[in-house]
Amino acid sequence: MTNTPTPPLTSRPAWRALAAHHEAIRDVHLRDLFAADPARGTRMTATGASIFLDYSKHRASPQTLELLFALARECQVEERRRAMFAGEKINITEGRAVLHTALRAPRDARIVVDGVNVVPLVHEVLDRMRTFTDQIRSGAWRGFTGKRIRNVVNIGIGGSDLGPEMAYRALAHYSQRDLTFRFVSNVDPTDFAEATRGLEPAETLFIVSSKTFTTLETMENANAARRWLLAAIGDEKAVASHFVAVSTNGPGVEKFGIDTANMFGFWEWVGGRYSMDSAIGLSTMLAIGAYAFGEMLGGFREMDEHFRTAPLEQNLPVIMALLGVWYTDFFGTQTAAILPYDQYLARFPAYLQQLIMESNGKSVTLSGARVTYATSPVIWGEPGTNGQHSFHQLLHQGTPLVPADFIGFLSPLNSNGRMYELLMANMFAQAAALAFGKTPEEVRAEGTAEALVPHRVFEGNRPSSVILAPRLTPATLGTLVALYEHMVFVQGVIWDIDSFDQWGVELGKTLAVSIARDLDPGVETPPERDSSTNGLIERFRAARDS
Ligand code: F6P
Repeated sequence: MTNTPTPPLTSRPAWRALAAHHEAIRDVHLRDLFAADPARGTRMTATGASIFLDYSKHRASPQTLELLFALARECQVEERRRAMFAGEKINITEGRAVLHTALRAPRDARIVVDGVNVVPLVHEVLDRMRTFTDQIRSGAWRGFTGKRIRNVVNIGIGGSDLGPEMAYRALAHYSQRDLTFRFVSNVDPTDFAEATRGLEPAETLFIVSSKTFTTLETMENANAARRWLLAAIGDEKAVASHFVAVSTNGPGVEKFGIDTANMFGFWEWVGGRYSMDSAIGLSTMLAIGAYAFGEMLGGFREMDEHFRTAPLEQNLPVIMALLGVWYTDFFGTQTAAILPYDQYLARFPAYLQQLIMESNGKSVTLSGARVTYATSPVIWGEPGTNGQHSFHQLLHQGTPLVPADFIGFLSPLNSNGRMYELLMANMFAQAAALAFGKTPEEVRAEGTAEALVPHRVFEGNRPSSVILAPRLTPATLGTLVALYEHMVFVQGVIWDIDSFDQWGVELGKTLAVSIARDLDPGVETPPERDSSTNGLIERFRAARDS
């Protein structure tokens, strides 16, 4: 499928101007940018939906930003944003609307897809989720033997796992602590074994989460769960009280044996990696309750409104997206770090890996041409301060340039002495050390032996954003996730790619299914593949047979 060709990105006037401007600014040090403009640290900030962004420690001058905003306008970011919110089919390779924003639209909103207002559908599912949540949390919903549900196991992978697990961990502070939550994703049987270890089957609810309800890993784990339950309870009828499904595929759910009355639906216009606030968030709602889940949706909505209405120059997702393009395409950076200074956000980098890389890890434009510029960087990260004692060495003194996002909260959820102040001090210190470094003169002035001076110099000029929110709440989590969702969208528009398909996952899936037939016990026929894969298959068979 193709789309009307747009002018190649690299021939746009703003792109060319940025390339020329980069020649002039690439060696300018942040120390000099700050010295030349004492107000820089307050001027290059923006606030939206209660998120504060300090982007002053980026290798960008007012002219850089002007050109980046011009690029956004030339690439029609505003028109494309309108099209997305309006439900136009901007996922052109799948012919689908992209409407995760409808998942948090207020009840009285109207968003029409193929002649149907989807907002009432969204709220109908939310209402059913609320009723179910109240039943589980109050103990009204009982397992097959009459016991109360005490354990919830979400089975899913990719967007049907990373969002729920990230959100559960992020909002653990708000969770009902007498309910145990576990998450199973991998087809590695170890994952299921460990996730169910110690759980009482009669008290366990499985949520089988899969948009398609065909994903190999999820179906295998769901079958494993049914075997595990039935081995303990021994009556097929128990499935009805211990399994619910979240999916767009009613027939698939029914075929598996889950009553569609216990199915929570969503729609093809919600991408898997954009689905944590759909019914895919059922485990989140069970953990934090319906009210707090509503607060989370409110946070998403606030950021949607900010993104939809704020001028580009004050628009957080736009600013972050453009700076990302600046580094990826002009400085040639290949990775970007996400560094939350909050232990509750331990899985946030993993969540963003899928959101960003599955969306923008593309090399073909909307019209099917090979791109001639770089698209998504590799995303990685860990919570601070832990990362400081492992990979920050490379951030400070390594050869690659790695733009980083520091994410922190102004007030803590747990206090203990001055530990929280130390956490935040470390975050501010890292951003400053990366930006300003330490000169040879400063190192010498400390009395360092000359031979050690080069080792102790920090060249600095390493860019970062600092993202601050008042406190980690369900609403704040919603705003943060929406911030990155919209950042990804803007970058996809600039790069002229389809951010909402994922054809790159297909080949491996098909090959795995076919190779699995070669690994079936009893199959002895020599594999007819490449010599490397044949060798690996033979080695696996030999080990199994011995
Ligand atoms: O294989 C990639 C992918 O399709 C992701 O995009 C998606 O989030 C994940 O698999 C799980 O898909 P499903 O929810 O359909 O099981």
